[in-house]
Amino acid sequence: MEIHVYRDRDAIGQAAAAVFAAQVLAKPHSVLGLATGSTPLATYDALAQMCARGEVDFRHVCTFNLDEYIGLGRQDAQSYYRFMEENLFRKINIAPCNCHVPNGLAEDIDAECAAYDDAIERAGGIDLQFLGIGHDGHIGFNEPDESFSKGTHLAHLSRMTIEANRRFFASAEEVPRTAISMGIGSIMKARAVVLVVYGEDKAEITARALQGPVTPRVPGSILQFHPRCTVMLDEAAASRL
Ligand code: PGA
Repeated sequence: MEIHVYRDRDAIGQAAAAVFAAQVLAKPHSVLGLATGSTPLATYDALAQMCARGEVDFRHVCTFNLDEYIGLGRQDAQSYYRFMEENLFRKINIAPCNCHVPNGLAEDIDAECAAYDDAIERAGGIDLQFLGIGHDGHIGFNEPDESFSKGTHLAHLSRMTIEANRRFFASAEEVPRTAISMGIGSIMKARAVVLVVYGEDKAEITARALQGPVTPRVPGSILQFHPRCTVMLDEAAASRL
């Protein structure tokens, strides 16, 4: 695990975007694993700017998002598909048919999860996965648990996650309680992973995930075992290391 500390969120965004752009330059048909939430926004902005300047070409790139809320459709204002469209897909020259987000309206959730894992496999596996981490240590919607999840599955949001995500909804009651999420096993299969964390409020969980025991009680701690994990922190998130 390589840990880099940056001045602020924008500096991390530039640095993480450079890692993703380098991946696409080296392999135009790259398969990228993407995330939602506040954490990737600076990276997505930087990638959109690089694409507009002609420095990176997403024409052949294929993406798989970590998760989607169950019960929300693609055009729902709070869906992660919509988030990705607004914050990245529309701003870069990627083919919409190459952008994969689990279908939160699938009638058969188990079948949707299996199909998602199959699609990742058929695409050749994820080359580079972007990750943020939740205050409870979750990655994707893999919440603290008794064991590490394997493939894509139906995940139950923890109380802490519902509270953290209510800022996007009118009230906590509107936050979906379940999601389709890639598993810890899916994430660990990615050939390389970039974990981005910023802010004082994530300093404690960052220290527990990066330097504490590897345990499903802190799902992000599994990344200590990933052979190619780059961690990008601002000074505040790194303050308890
Ligand atoms: P955030 O969420 O980027 O909105 O802080 C991170 C996460 O929950 O994984």
